[in-house]
Amino acid sequence: MADKLIIFDTTLRDGEQSPGASMTRDEKLRIARQLERLKVDVIEAGFAASSNGDFEAVRAIAQSIKDSTVCSLARTNDRDIARAAEALHGANSARIHTFIATSPLHMEKKLRMTPDQVMEQAVQAVRFARNLVGDIEFSPEDGYRSEMDFLCRILEAVIKEGATTINVPDTVGYAVPELYGEFIRTLRERIPNSDKAIWSVHCHNDLGMAVANSLAGVQIGGARQIECTINGLGERAGNCSLEEVVMALKTRKDYFGLELGIDPRHIVAASRMVSQTTGFVVQPNKAVVGANAFAHASGIHQDGVLKARDTYEIMRAEDVGWTTNKIVLGKLSGRNAFKQRLQDLGVQLESESDINAAFTRFKELADRKSEIFDEDILALVSQDAVPEEGDQYSFVSLSQHSETGERPHASIVIQDNGTEVRAESDGNGPVDASLKAIENHVKSGAEMVLYSVNAISGSTESQGEVTVRLQNSGRVVNGVGADPDIVVASAKAYLSALNKLKSKSDRVAAQG
Ligand code: KIV
Ligand code: ZN
Repeated sequence: MADKLIIFDTTLRDGEQSPGASMTRDEKLRIARQLERLKVDVIEAGFAASSNGDFEAVRAIAQSIKDSTVCSLARTNDRDIARAAEALHGANSARIHTFIATSPLHMEKKLRMTPDQVMEQAVQAVRFARNLVGDIEFSPEDGYRSEMDFLCRILEAVIKEGATTINVPDTVGYAVPELYGEFIRTLRERIPNSDKAIWSVHCHNDLGMAVANSLAGVQIGGARQIECTINGLGERAGNCSLEEVVMALKTRKDYFGLELGIDPRHIVAASRMVSQTTGFVVQPNKAVVGANAFAHASGIHQDGVLKARDTYEIMRAEDVGWTTNKIVLGKLSGRNAFKQRLQDLGVQLESESDINAAFTRFKELADRKSEIFDEDILALVSQDAVPEEGDQYSFVSLSQHSETGERPHASIVIQDNGTEVRAESDGNGPVDASLKAIENHVKSGAEMVLYSVNAISGSTESQGEVTVRLQNSGRVVNGVGADPDIVVASAKAYLSALNKLKSKSDRVAAQG
């Protein structure tokens, strides 16, 4: 293709580095399949050497994904690189992404290495990686704050060793569009062998400019790969958001003139899946995937859109996968209709028994809620709704009493390692009483750092989707729970977070 732009998704690696966003192997696999449906060119599946869990996730994704290149991150040492290659073994198309910091600040204070030592390590790593996998990406971490002369030397050297993609991270989100674009252009002009590699941009969003900077890196700098994440998930303020950058390139093709492989009709489902899996709620006014992105509230706008859609709409909601909030299924819907709807939503369950279990949950919900929307179905099959082998706690039942002038009281029954236990507590409100009741039994000592409720399909009849973020001994996890009763949803979210605190092992940070 004449001028193709590569979309490199790093939701499963850089996105997962957001505190609390860590995902299980199965959650990652499920998102990777959705990214493949979206026709993402490269999926950065994880950082294989960081933990056994991440190694297994990269391996499972490498085995399962056929149409996208699967990539693992690795520091510039032989162990990380060998581990990445091992996890990627058998992939249809594999890439190793190796990185080392190159800014004076990071080299001196973090790595405590001289520029020559960094250079030597980078060159050796690329040489070693190149013998294991043909497709090698190199990133000078904190590249945008690095010295131009040193960056030119190190990048020329790694290209000579066989790096096929050079990624220039704005690790701390310090860049502004024009300067970042010129930075990439200068590198490409000054490095004699720059035409032997594809140039890539990787922008963090600390000043809210990650998408603009990435586009400038492409338009001014000539980069032909953008690294991005679904919903802009990522450390601190996140990364360049895939849905925004892709729709900017597609909607303004007249200006950018680039070809993309992405099928945008799967964007909204990918966004829902990532937000339900990680518990990172999408703000309503978020471009493309926010609930209000295509809603017209003011009379003038509504009138205009009814007369001619393009008066106020530059993209069509259905082109990015929005279906109108229609009632899709109800109490009388059968298993086949349910299965068909899952397929239409792009949800692939592993086995017939998984479909049966999801159908049972659907029937239970349909008994309590007459109208079932797509969002309800997605919540039903989200990973936190599915009990996992090894989960210590699960929800059984709850009763709570609250009345004006009285202190709310909750009594809850949960399963703890297969045994039913009852716990009780008072609290400031019914949710507080219920979670305190759980805590009375569990005694986790975890600190709650976030609690949020969202109406899944927008009205008081909808299910409440609750996210609970817990912190304990330096680890942060998110639990998500959905139920028409928000107190029950809260208890489920809390139990899910407690299960994650129990089960997930620590990992090595990619930057630190
Ligand atoms: O932001 C960054 O510098 C990174 C590198 C590991 C590529 O994510
Ligand atoms: Zn990053």
